[in-house]
Amino acid sequence: MPWTRRHLLTIEELSLAEIEQIHATAAAFKQILGRSVKKVPALRGKTIVNLFLEPSTRTRMAFDMAAKRLSADVISVDAVSSSTTKGETLRDTAQNIQALQADMIVIRHSAAGSPLYLSRLLDIPVINAGDGAHEHPTQGLLDTFTMKEHLGRLKGRKVVILGDILFSRVARSNIHALTKMGANVTLVGPSTLVPEWFTALGVKVTHDLKSALADAEVVMLLRIQHERQASSHFPSLGEYTSMFGLNKTRAGWLNPKAIIMHPGPINRGVEIDSELADGERSVILEQVTNGIAIRMAVLYLCAGGQPEHVIPAA
Ligand code: CP
Repeated sequence: MPWTRRHLLTIEELSLAEIEQIHATAAAFKQILGRSVKKVPALRGKTIVNLFLEPSTRTRMAFDMAAKRLSADVISVDAVSSSTTKGETLRDTAQNIQALQADMIVIRHSAAGSPLYLSRLLDIPVINAGDGAHEHPTQGLLDTFTMKEHLGRLKGRKVVILGDILFSRVARSNIHALTKMGANVTLVGPSTLVPEWFTALGVKVTHDLKSALADAEVVMLLRIQHERQASSHFPSLGEYTSMFGLNKTRAGWLNPKAIIMHPGPINRGVEIDSELADGERSVILEQVTNGIAIRMAVLYLCAGGQPEHVIPAA
């Protein structure tokens, strides 16, 4: 099946076959990243603008590196240094970037739906790097890619997402990817942050941590996203940690081979103890590394590349 999408806006709209195509393309790029010459000419002559109007460390740097590994020219724009601080609208900023002859825009924005809005406004591909509490598709793709590296097929695997689900775009993208891939997803956390209505997405919802973690093969921790919460959803951080923080005792409830994941940034001692974040079951830094190959795959495919044209390993 040829790749036909110009934009990557959500995982919700992707088919299972498209998710697998991105994973296969990323796997080929990951092999190339392991070579002494890590660069391919796939996007030579193209200019990619990373428009990050919300803070980011991992996603922004991984998109930067991915574009450079594909030989594209890359320009990064952030909220502080852009003319949005002088009152320019997102529409005007984006149209000016297109007028400057960018070939693709990667956007992170606090407003859900802003990538969709730009995709309808512009003639160039738009990639969603996180929009409010809506979706973070490349994070969901790199997370499921990392799970597959450790577990193989995800069909029938028990995956637990623990923490602030309500305000998490990472949770939504992972839920869409994991349910399409046949995983059994359980969401757990305080009832104020893990409402029952998430069951409509084909997942289990519980507020009982012990039963949720029992025999789980993957646990993904999420931080409390204070920046999206107008008011507190629990009495104090200390109480959250005492009820739902992952510590060594609670990690003992997991399947003995379970992996521990976190999209970052981590709040050590709140949602996860340091000894687990840095322990041998943690794949948190593998997730970060896989983010480069996934973003290379997404940029390459949305620029018109085809999975079978990526040069395989020698
Ligand atoms: N996971 C993630 O989106 O991290 P950043 O906010 O640092 O990009």
